[in-house]
Amino acid sequence: MKGNQKLLKVLNELLADELTAISQYMVHSEMCESWGYKKLHKAIEKQAVDEMHHAEWLIQRILFLGGTPVVSKLNPIRIGKGIQEIIAGDQEAELGAVRAYNAGIGLAGEVGDQSTADLLTTILKMEEGHVDWAEKQRVQIEHMGLATYLVNQTEGAEG
Ligand SMILES: [Fe+2]
Ligand SMILES: [Fe+2]
Repeated sequence: MKGNQKLLKVLNELLADELTAISQYMVHSEMCESWGYKKLHKAIEKQAVDEMHHAEWLIQRILFLGGTPVVSKLNPIRIGKGIQEIIAGDQEAELGAVRAYNAGIGLAGEVGDQSTADLLTTILKMEEGHVDWAEKQRVQIEHMGLATYLVNQTEGAEG
């Protein structure tokens, strides 16, 4: 099936965002692991896996629409120095994703591609979940203080 060229370009831009997020989250997840914050490691690793699924779904859709998936392009990656910077950087990336998916859904609707709009909506809901996760961490750090928050994150660590 031949897709709309403008929409294919946007799908490739979204793909670049996802590939960037995968790289950023893998580094952040492993930084948390290296510090012994097992729960944070697992939570961020799960998000990286979510982004990998998003990248797969976008690649599938681009191919279905007769386009060429571009997997060699990454956007600037923001690696935080500490936990708060990590969470803030990831939340910023997620807010960017929410904006980009909303714009993509609008374009898919404009060009009459409801199926692509549906896919982007499914991903958008997951990105909103990621924003919400980061927000909860920020609130918890504010409520309990960073030290207490981090004690909770060591749970499940092997020592
Ligand atoms: Fe994603
Ligand atoms: Fe996300």
